[in-house]
Amino acid sequence: MPEVEASVTRALQSGAWGNYDGPNGAELIDRLASRFSQPLVTLCSSGTVAVELALRGLGVDAGHEVILGGYDFPGNFRAIEAIGAIPVLVDLAADRFAIDVDSIDQAISDKTAAIIVSHLHGSLAPMRSLMKLATTRGLPVLEDACQCPGAAIAGAPAGSFGDAAVLSFGGSKLLTAGRGGAILTREGRVHQRIKVFQDRGNLAFPLSELQAAALIPQMETLNHFHERRLASAKILAQHLQASILSSYAIEGGDDQSPAYYKFPLLLPEQTRESICTAASALGVPLFAGFRGFATRSSKRCRIAGSLVNSQRYAKETALLHHSALLLEESHVVRLAKTLHTLIEEGR
Ligand SMILES: Cc1ncc(COP(=O)(O)O)c(C=O)c1O
Repeated sequence: MPEVEASVTRALQSGAWGNYDGPNGAELIDRLASRFSQPLVTLCSSGTVAVELALRGLGVDAGHEVILGGYDFPGNFRAIEAIGAIPVLVDLAADRFAIDVDSIDQAISDKTAAIIVSHLHGSLAPMRSLMKLATTRGLPVLEDACQCPGAAIAGAPAGSFGDAAVLSFGGSKLLTAGRGGAILTREGRVHQRIKVFQDRGNLAFPLSELQAAALIPQMETLNHFHERRLASAKILAQHLQASILSSYAIEGGDDQSPAYYKFPLLLPEQTRESICTAASALGVPLFAGFRGFATRSSKRCRIAGSLVNSQRYAKETALLHHSALLLEESHVVRLAKTLHTLIEEGR
């Protein structure tokens, strides 16, 4: 992208491109704060580290419990463990890749210190009802928006709801600096604790000026690419209706505008691998989804209720990388038809 090239070149020419603090980082912080309506932003070295720092900022400590979905990014489980806290698994909803709000209540114990809510694979969690429940129970919510910058729920950006929210700027993400992340909050105490944990005599998990310079122009183009990805997702959904979770996310039910880091398909367990292999051979970036946590040892976590949907998603999910969603419309139609044929042949 020429805008990124120009911005990175300016940072290089300034001579301060390797610094951890400077005008690019400051501008990125301002832009993220205003875009996500969370005034206090900490830049960091990855989404994975962002999750851990955010949990620490929210007051999670060793021996506490943290609730998360039984199907989620593996690093979120590990971030809880890194603190010495215990993951408590709750099922995902049957109609979307997001935690089932109704199952959360029964998972809460006197040790529960936080709830992680991830928006996965173009699904958006019902943040209003979730925040209502969490507030009633006096628990902070970490909103994981690593997969969905650009998404919105009833006009408010995903990432603007949680007591803390995290973003990833990893190499394959919708906003990318090759690596990087951010933690957003509106609570001074949370922000302050994050700063303390990030400081080990120096900034232990920094984002550099060069990375910030690469990200700033992408904040400008995010909406444009978001709309293009959304249009492609609609085409794919029309052609592949039998293999998508529901029409919910695609139609923007509940006034949602989902963002697609990966477009999800649900394929029969027996044929998922061969379909992904055949697609890859044709140059189509289709891969298996997360493994989920349902089979994790009870020594490592507590399972609260049935994980039937999480197990299904772990076995059947295949994900199409977002690069395919920026193809021209006629190519997306051809891609959808190719995938349809592969899926039919695999049955
Ligand atoms: C939902 C979710 N959370 C967190 C992360 C971690 O981000 P990073 O790769 O920047 O460590 C990812 C990365 O894929 C993710 O999908």
